[in-house]
Amino acid sequence: MNWIVPRYDYPSQISDIEATLLAQMRDLLNGGQYILGQAVTDFEREFATYIGTKHAIGVNSGTDALILALHALGIGQGDEVITVTNSFHATALAIVRVGAIPVLVDCKPDTFLIDLGQVEQKISRRTRAVIVVHLFGQSVDMAAVHDLAKRNGLLIVEDCAQAIGALSGEKKVGSTSDAGCWSFAPSKNLAAAGDAGAVTLNNPKLSDRLSHMRHFGQTRQNEHRVPGYNSRLDTIQALVLRNKLPCVDKWGAARVRIASIYRERLDGLPIAFQRGARTGEHVYHLFQIKTDLRNDLLSHLRRRGIDAVVRYPTPIHLQEAFGDLGYRTGDLPVSEALAEHSLCLPLHPAMTDDQVGFVCASIHSFFSG
Ligand SMILES: Cc1ncc(COP(=O)(O)O)c(C=O)c1O
Repeated sequence: MNWIVPRYDYPSQISDIEATLLAQMRDLLNGGQYILGQAVTDFEREFATYIGTKHAIGVNSGTDALILALHALGIGQGDEVITVTNSFHATALAIVRVGAIPVLVDCKPDTFLIDLGQVEQKISRRTRAVIVVHLFGQSVDMAAVHDLAKRNGLLIVEDCAQAIGALSGEKKVGSTSDAGCWSFAPSKNLAAAGDAGAVTLNNPKLSDRLSHMRHFGQTRQNEHRVPGYNSRLDTIQALVLRNKLPCVDKWGAARVRIASIYRERLDGLPIAFQRGARTGEHVYHLFQIKTDLRNDLLSHLRRRGIDAVVRYPTPIHLQEAFGDLGYRTGDLPVSEALAEHSLCLPLHPAMTDDQVGFVCASIHSFFSG
């Protein structure tokens, strides 16, 4: 479909860097350092500096970043990890993949983010960690998370897939916990040309363990100390990411500007927005709105060529894949209501004012009947 207002604009992410990137790719293709080449090391250093951590380890996806982080932190069979049902499936999948049990809690009705009060209630003798998700680009209050984790002896893993550049207080998300887990999938604010991910962290021992684990558990050629994974950030993806990283703040600022136009022009309509972020704490990976007339509004927008979508139509606890966890409809009602009543408006840094205006006018025309 040829959208009048699409959700992504890839050419605009590439146009300024295309000549340099293609020249670097040509060198790489001829040079053959496809696996763990110099660009991977360079990107890891630059990304750690950008986030504000001592280390960053490139892996092949955001899902693997979560799995490897949990595994490297020693979480496994019989352990419980608490996380939020209002997230992308991979957050809980990673817990299952390391043999642990996801304990799912609801989100807050105003911020759409993990309800830390519920986390506190679900802590048991088997709880080892909490995974917080900076969903839609808005940061969770990490000071509160650290306080909770300290009082209860829990590890903290951050799912940062949607929130590159977002602050929590004074610090960037992914910089203060045991592991910040990143996705650079093509939909993300910093997008590779395929699958890619990373873990940011400050502990040098854990960093070494992760860098071995992602590479067959190999410490040097033919020496395998731990049963690892084959999950490396491809050199070609590192080239894409290195070239785009310097643009992330500029793109984030453009997202914030568009979000503020949406908020201003849609004010007064029977719509709720994600609330709670202070300046700098939301990078608007997705612009989420909530309305009782979601399905009709969604059809109206899509008919008019606006690529609005639902994120996420089925909360994790009601996904068939997690049926054996035993959750039922009604268990986590805030996320269930969001799944029924929310949708995402298109938002990307290259959107024109006309496109933003068209989306707003279309929503007004819907509500004025
Ligand atoms: C919140 C969240 N967690 C994890 C992931 C998984 O990342 P990936 O698709 O790179 O495996 C994604 C994105 O897909 C995500 O949005």
